[in-house]
Formats: sequence, structure tokens, C-alpha cells
Amino acid sequence: MTRASETNGEGGLFQGTVAVVTGSTRGIGRAVAEVLVREGGRVMVSSRRADAVEETVAALEALGTGEAAGQVCDVREPAACHALVEAAVERFGALDVLVNNAGLGRFAKIQEMEPETWNIQLRTNLDGVFHCSQAAIPHLRVRGRGWIFNIGSLAGRNAFSGGVAYNASKFGLLGMTEAMMLDLRDEGIRVSCIMPGSVNTHFFEGGPDPEDDWKLQSEDIARVITDLMSFPDRALPSKVEIRPSRPPKR
Ligand SMILES: NC(=O)c1ccc[n+]([C@@H]2O[C@H](COP(=O)([O-])OP(=O)(O)OC[C@H]3O[C@@H](n4cnc5c(N)ncnc54)[C@H](OP(=O)(O)O)[C@@H]3O)[C@@H](O)[C@H]2O)c1
Repeated sequence: MTRASETNGEGGLFQGTVAVVTGSTRGIGRAVAEVLVREGGRVMVSSRRADAVEETVAALEALGTGEAAGQVCDVREPAACHALVEAAVERFGALDVLVNNAGLGRFAKIQEMEPETWNIQLRTNLDGVFHCSQAAIPHLRVRGRGWIFNIGSLAGRNAFSGGVAYNASKFGLLGMTEAMMLDLRDEGIRVSCIMPGSVNTHFFEGGPDPEDDWKLQSEDIARVITDLMSFPDRALPSKVEIRPSRPPKR
């Protein structure tokens, strides 16, 4: 991974850094992909929709600094996760960073939640991270360094009514991330859980709301990731909570 201190400012802070970002056609994932490409990175974007992937790649390529490629990947499918990582390595020659961002929120009380909804939630938010990480680790190992960012949530620490599936997925993801971090740090692979509060994205029904200007923006979460990537190799910020500084008073 190129560090900020190694660059001369001409090629961007992350010149040549290869990243796979899951769920990167909108919201947080797209903001991460954008900032990496703007700073010279080479990014494989993905989501479940081919048209969205195509549109995102075209928009990223127009930024003109780094490179972008895309592949459809439903992170609930193990083979698709492996194919996504392999496509990135084939196209860009290596892998430095995996951002496990693809996720969704399905909210209902336990007594009302359909088993299928529970499954979708857990398979996307947890299984997807497992499969993409397993696919990425051998390639990060080859480099002897690398970073896996898991996009958790403050809902991974604070439960709420209606959050039975989402809370389970994000509490689980936090524990999973900490275990992965301990499994991998001796190999130079850093693993961090980024835990945002409310971010103004399509995560919420109706999409981003300009009236919700108190919420975090996707760019704020992307900034956390790129700031961490600029840390020296010896330092591993393993968990970052980020919340709106001025939420509406209740
Ligand atoms: N927004 C918030 O307030 C907030 C707060 C804390 C944490 N988070 C977390 O941040 C992450 C990103 O959320 P966001 O707010 O950016 O939401 P978003 O705007 O809805 O974006 C979600 C992205 O994930 C993709 N996706 C959904 N299911 C997928 C699947 N099975 N396989 C592959 N891609 C999939 C979506 O594309 P397709 O639907 O086309 O596949 C989209 O590109 C999630 O993990 C979420 O839990 C969000």
C-alpha cells in the first residue's frame, strides 16, 4: 500500500493501491471507491446490478486519475465473492485493500420478522464478509501487507427494537472483525471495523434526504478509511466509531 509519506503529490496518495469495494454503486462504498480512484488507486467496484456497476465504472474512470473496473457480485454467493477478488487480481495484478461494505437493513420486531428476511440480512451482512475475506486473504498474504475494512455500525453496539436482524448482523460483524484482526495481524494484514451512526444514503427508504443535513455523509466514512490507510505500518486502529456531531434533540 502506498503511504501518504511516500508520495510526491503527483500521482495521488494511493497511487497504484489495488482495492476491492463491495456494494460500491452508491452510498458509502461508492464514496470510498471515488476517493481511492481520485488519489490514484485501482478499484474493482461491484453490486448486484450490472447497469449500476457499469454506470459507476464509467463515472469513476471519468475522474481521470486512478483506474476502475467492475463486476456484478452478490456477496451472499460464495463463488461470486471469489470471482470478484480474482477479477481484481487478474485486472490489476495484486490486491492491497478489501472493503467489506455491501449491506442492508431490514427492520421488524422478532415476532413479525419473516425467516427469509432474517436470512437475507445475515447472509448479506455477515456471510458476505466471510466469503470476500476468505477470497482476499491469500492475495494480501502474498504482498505481506494489506487491509480489510469491515463496515459495521453503531448498531453493532447499541440494540434497538426492530433491530433483531440488523443488530445481530452488526454485533456479529464487530466480533468477527476483532477475531479476524487477531488472526491476521502477525502477517501484516490489518483488519478494522468502521462503525458509523446515521449516514445519508439509500440505506434508508426513500434514499438520501437533503433535509437530513445533520447526518453523516458517505464522504465522511470514506475519509475515515483513507485517513487510516495513511497510518504507519506499526499502527492498527482496529475499531472506529463515527457519529453525527449534532443529531436532532429528542
Ligand atoms: N447509512 C447508514 O446510516 C449506515 C450506518 C451504519 C452502517 N452502515 C453500513 O454501511 C454499508 C453501506 O450502506 P449504505 O448506507 O451505503 O447503503 P446503500 O446506499 O443502500 O448502498 C448499499 C450498497 O450495497 C449494495 N448491496 C446490497 N446488497 C448487496 C449484496 N447482497 N451483494 C452485493 N452488493 C449489495 C447495493 O447495491 P445493489 O442493491 O445494487 O446490490 C449498494 O451498492 C452497509 O453495510 C450498512 O449496514 C450504513
